[in-house]
Amino acid sequence: MEPKSESKAREKKLIFSGIAPSGTPALGNYIGALRNWAALQDEYDCIYCVVDMHAITLRRDPAELRKKSRDMLTLCIALGIDPERSLLFYQSHVSGHAELAWILNCFTYMGELGRMTQFKDKSSKHEDNINAGLFTYPVLMAADILLYNVDLVPIGDDQRQHMEICRDIAIRFNNIYGDVFTVPEAYYGKVGARIMSLQEPDRKMDKSETANPNNTIFLLDDADTVISKFKRALTDSGSEVRFAEDKPGVSNLMTIYSALTGRTMPEIEAEFDGAGYGKFKLAVGEAVVETLRPIWKRFGELTADKAYVDGVIRASAEKASAMAEITLNKVKDKVGFPA
Ligand code: TYM
Repeated sequence: MEPKSESKAREKKLIFSGIAPSGTPALGNYIGALRNWAALQDEYDCIYCVVDMHAITLRRDPAELRKKSRDMLTLCIALGIDPERSLLFYQSHVSGHAELAWILNCFTYMGELGRMTQFKDKSSKHEDNINAGLFTYPVLMAADILLYNVDLVPIGDDQRQHMEICRDIAIRFNNIYGDVFTVPEAYYGKVGARIMSLQEPDRKMDKSETANPNNTIFLLDDADTVISKFKRALTDSGSEVRFAEDKPGVSNLMTIYSALTGRTMPEIEAEFDGAGYGKFKLAVGEAVVETLRPIWKRFGELTADKAYVDGVIRASAEKASAMAEITLNKVKDKVGFPA
């Protein structure tokens, strides 16, 4: 992928998205975002990033963070991100993200950051470490996106508010300095933008889950673990497989099944008519295992091929840095930094 310059128009539209290495990616990440990352490569030029700088807003063990970042990046290749076509790198390898974030901090208001539900949620869970990075997290995310002048950002529903603030910052900056940033659109998949916890279907499935691992399917769980987590998944009263507001557990499982098999809700209701929850939950578990099996195999191969993955990381970061520099130079010039 070549850096976009003023003189050379890009043929395909551009995408950026990121994932934080705050755990092993979960089925929610896969359905809500990662499988769209892979699918969108046919139509778009894509830039994907393991956002390790976002991950240190909570305290992490350094060796563990390094391993989680590596596993996450490797998993991205295993599930279909093609390094021949797309860029895939660590955020901390491209210093432009932090540089632009500082500048954008000066164009973002305390009031708008204070309204972010994710900030409120995380600061209530980590009262002993409400750091400034946690507060300005959405500004770094805006920098990630605006640095590459992308058209589209594939995300799950929980990132909606962060996307809105990113657009607001871009528009504010453009209003002052002229057309500097492309104002990006969010892209949500047709099904599964919000996959819920298996045991507590009123909250989202989270890769950072530690309290009860049965809440989350981690993409590196083995087949037996996946099946057993689905067998234990909380269902609702009654025994009917029906997509309805008063059936949050069953509806969540139906969403997972629909996302992986392409079947519609009425088709799923017909398929499991009279079957009972046990049979249905097993079928969902099996569909997940079938989806993950080739990913596990490829992950194993890639983990053994250290040189290949290292090469991808290095080459992608180099290309991304060149692209980032074009925007950054323009921004620095606009705000009045000396050449
Ligand atoms: P993160 O790492 O929490 O999640 C990565 C992606 O997975 C989606 N997702 C879900 N989708 C459906 N159901 C769920 N239960 C679920 N949980 C997570 C998220 O919406 C996300 O798309 N701040 C971001 C990372 C980020 C980023 C960016 C994303 C940093 N810079 C720039 C896009 C563009 C985050 O923490 O996602």
